Amino acid sequence: MPRYERPTILMCPPDYYGIEYEINPWMSRSRQSDPAHARDQWKGLYELLISLGVDVQLMDPVQGLPDLVFTANAGLIHADDAYLSRFRHAARQGETSEDRVWFATHGFETLDLPEGMDFEGAGDALFCGETLYGGYIIRSDARALQWVASRIGCRVIPLQLIDDRYYHLDTCFCPLAEEEALWYPPAFDEYGQRAIRQHIPRLIEVNDDEAARFACNAVVVGRNVVLNTGCEQLEADLRERGYTPHATPLDEFIKAGGSAKCLTLRLDGEEAAIWPEPP
Ligand code: ARG
Repeated sequence: MPRYERPTILMCPPDYYGIEYEINPWMSRSRQSDPAHARDQWKGLYELLISLGVDVQLMDPVQGLPDLVFTANAGLIHADDAYLSRFRHAARQGETSEDRVWFATHGFETLDLPEGMDFEGAGDALFCGETLYGGYIIRSDARALQWVASRIGCRVIPLQLIDDRYYHLDTCFCPLAEEEALWYPPAFDEYGQRAIRQHIPRLIEVNDDEAARFACNAVVVGRNVVLNTGCEQLEADLRERGYTPHATPLDEFIKAGGSAKCLTLRLDGEEAAIWPEPP
């Protein structure tokens, strides 16, 4: 059983990262990433997280699995259980056996969803307090979210995603604390917008331009919020609410439709604000 003394995050170095297929509107094989640049940006994020007191654990990169860097999609962690992803697109399905081995050799119980239920892990399933918020239709199935929540024994709020650019929940919604989150409302249908407004009392809205800079795809470590550069309005809003934003350039990963949060998986539980503030 894994034991944590501090916030713990899984990352995977970008040795084999690239735009080899197109499964979301951000990806275009004609707009390749620059390997050296991607390496530097990934390292910038890694070092920033370490400076915030995070224990960063690493998974080995694998040739032919360019999106393995996006560890948020390895699965959903709840206590010692790792609910493995079942990727919608064949291009990413080869990642699951790698994720399974990593979790199994690091003290987790791996769980498989029933066949036929697509589920993309912490990309589409995020805890805000005790409640699981689930993004569905583009990558994960609503019944997969229900299945996971009933196994965990928690409440789930399924949210339909309606904009292909914001295809995972973590591209348009980010829990900050038990009753606080940031979000991009146009990514949700009317019912979803209402559900979020009803359940989360303190919300920060991200504007169009900053949403497209993946402002919502932030990593929260206590009161620190790590995000891509170019989101000055959100940075100001975060400061006003008592958070400390840390911007680090991640454009090379936006070419694949990902940013800070996608490149990380919280291993000690996504439940907000359980750790004391780092010094
Ligand atoms: N290219 C990857 C995909 O389309 C990016 C995944 C980003 N991950 C995330 N958690 N939003 O699946």
